[in-house]
Amino acid sequence: MTQLSRRSFMKIAAVGLAGLGGCQGIEMATQQAVAVPPAALLREYELVRLACLAANSHNTQPWLFHLEPGCIVVSPDFSRRCEQVDPENHHLWVSLGCATENILQAAPGMGLDASLTLLDEAVRINLRNYAAARPCALAAAIPHRQSTRCDYDRRPVPAHTLQLLESATRSDSVGISLLTEGPLRRQVEALVLAANARQLDSALFRQELRQWLRFNEHDARTLGDGLFSACTGNPQVPSWLGNRLFDWFYTAQSALEPLARQLHSSSGLILLHGERHDWWQWFETGRSAQRLALWITSLGLKMAFINQPIEVAQTRQQLATALGLGPRTPEILIRFGYASPMPTSFRRPIAAVINV
Ligand SMILES: Cc1cc2nc3c(=O)[nH]c(=O)nc-3n(C[C@H](O)[C@H](O)[C@H](O)COP(=O)(O)O)c2cc1C
Repeated sequence: MTQLSRRSFMKIAAVGLAGLGGCQGIEMATQQAVAVPPAALLREYELVRLACLAANSHNTQPWLFHLEPGCIVVSPDFSRRCEQVDPENHHLWVSLGCATENILQAAPGMGLDASLTLLDEAVRINLRNYAAARPCALAAAIPHRQSTRCDYDRRPVPAHTLQLLESATRSDSVGISLLTEGPLRRQVEALVLAANARQLDSALFRQELRQWLRFNEHDARTLGDGLFSACTGNPQVPSWLGNRLFDWFYTAQSALEPLARQLHSSSGLILLHGERHDWWQWFETGRSAQRLALWITSLGLKMAFINQPIEVAQTRQQLATALGLGPRTPEILIRFGYASPMPTSFRRPIAAVINV
């Protein structure tokens, strides 16, 4: 995935159309009310609402939830897959892992013990009653986590915080590499830019990306999905104009300079890597990525995904070689640091993702 550059939209000013909208007063669409959940499923509905706040590729929200008392089955919605950017459904399964991690973090606070069972291309979350609620610190970060796609303030992150992020993210199957400075970090940043340039040269990639762009609050709110322009710091414009501006001005040339600035402004980069090449690995990576994002949020830091070099096969291989990963595969790349929050992305109503 990529980001719309501020500069491409600033060209609007040149044609006298600047300031058609702002990003003020955007409510948390994520707080949408649920259409009266059945009494026996109140906690399950609330857990699904929290699951939907998770990070997910292109904000397609490619998930479905089947609910029964004491059980939530999470399965993919393949109608929302992104053929171009994610031909193997890697990002789709990572997104499902992110959503599931939110449920696992939130359940103890509702007095529920949650465990996972692997199904055929789905997972079942089994929920058992505890005697008392045991709120988990990370659950409080769920509504505040966001992909913060702006310049950060370059401040270094203390060593003990970095150690905490590393140990909280690692799991049996997911490894983590942390880069805060040095030639290796610069090499990885160069791969992000190279991959992004390659993507923006692809007509099919651009076509798919454009389909998920929401150029104004009305569209973003009505559809409840996609990449809302205000979340990337861009002004809002009518969709007919946004589509034209995207075609005319959103090129590798205009996109790379702001992306390079964002990379350099970050305190560091984190790469998650996996040992296997199957959906269960990708799902586990998603759980680790979401846990990392919740830790980052709860520590007062911000993060954004920069997954471009993993989406392009050639740069993915170069990334693995540069970091000496051997047979392990790069799965998720993020940048982190200190910044002010950006507007919140929208979500679809819970009713759209539940089949009871
Ligand atoms: C697997 C995966 C890959 C992603 N890749 C990118 C990316 O390359 N660039 C980017 O800006 N955001 C990326 N994102 C972030 C999503 O676009 C973001 O989570 C979604 O739009 C919802 O916004 P939120 O995270 O602020 O809730 C990725 C998310 C996931 C789960």
